[in-house]
Amino acid sequence: MKKLYPDLSDARVYERIKALKAQLGSDLSIMAHYYQRDDVVRFADFQGDSLELAHCATDAESACHIVFCGVMFMSETAAMLCKPGTLVLQPVTAAGCTMADMADAENVAVAWNALQRVWPGDVIPITYQNANASVKAFVGRNGGAVCTSANSERIFRWAFAQRGHILFLPDENLSTNTAYAMGIPPEQVGTWDPFNPPDPATLKDNRVVVWKGHCYVHTVFSSQDIARARSAHPDAQVVVHPECRPEVVQLADKVGSTSTIIRVVQQAAPGSVTFIGTEWHLVYRLARQHPDRLVLPLRRSTCGTMSMTTARHLLASLESIVAGEPQGVVQVDEQTAHDARLALDRMLEVI
Ligand code: 13P
Ligand code: SF4
Repeated sequence: MKKLYPDLSDARVYERIKALKAQLGSDLSIMAHYYQRDDVVRFADFQGDSLELAHCATDAESACHIVFCGVMFMSETAAMLCKPGTLVLQPVTAAGCTMADMADAENVAVAWNALQRVWPGDVIPITYQNANASVKAFVGRNGGAVCTSANSERIFRWAFAQRGHILFLPDENLSTNTAYAMGIPPEQVGTWDPFNPPDPATLKDNRVVVWKGHCYVHTVFSSQDIARARSAHPDAQVVVHPECRPEVVQLADKVGSTSTIIRVVQQAAPGSVTFIGTEWHLVYRLARQHPDRLVLPLRRSTCGTMSMTTARHLLASLESIVAGEPQGVVQVDEQTAHDARLALDRMLEVI
């Protein structure tokens, strides 16, 4: 990627961002996911995991511009939840999510129609927040809800109060881990592979059907990584994100969303050792913020698209606002936004 502002030093880029932030004042809110680079996170008015940022977008009362440093499914959510008239800008519009791209509304409709024949009127679609707007809209239109890694059990309980079966999109690991944590046995968790769809009749004894999608950043962690960590530091605790594979989650001491992982490290005793199975930028930041305890990655795993946004992209985004020609404005068509909001609002009501 071409370097923006090649003639400016990093120090000058940072100064310019600070100056533009001051100039835009309460017209601007910069939001950043915890997986963003440090030189982006340092300028954020709000940092958060997916759930916290969704709340933040809903609550952002005064800002006319939200510069969202994250990936497209998050910026789309902010654009659908913020107050009318607010512009959401994503500094690098090419920053998407490979897991979100593993489900599209057309393929989801094929699975949905097949499952309707197995359990007529008794299946509900649930989508992870990490899905594109068209998938959220499909879920909203069909009575379902969004969930995040921080509230998946609560949303599963809500879903089972509505109907007997769940179709979960697009992460097979978060959904399987949630089902197991709720005591649903493996034989009641089926898989829908959109590239090789099963005979729907084979799913009839399942309560949950999980879409065959995954996050490559989290599925890289293995049982061997945990064994290696425990052999190096027998007293260490191991905490992993629920996008990790079930066999990894079962060997860990704790599993939790990004905000839970942060809390675990904050509450760890000085001198303790914590191994973390999640995106490396967050692990590295936590290690620096807590020099009196050892915070180590289970393995170094980074999200390529989260890393695309640099302070220079943030600066370009702010410059475009000040110039009156905002770049990277995130737009979701009105019908899609309306239907997706049904699914998002159901989540926000349940939690
Ligand atoms: P959370 O922010 O919900 O923990 O999700 C992690 C993730 O993969 C974001 O892309
Ligand atoms: Fe997508 Fe995984 Fe990156 Fe999150 S960490 S944006 S789920 S690829």
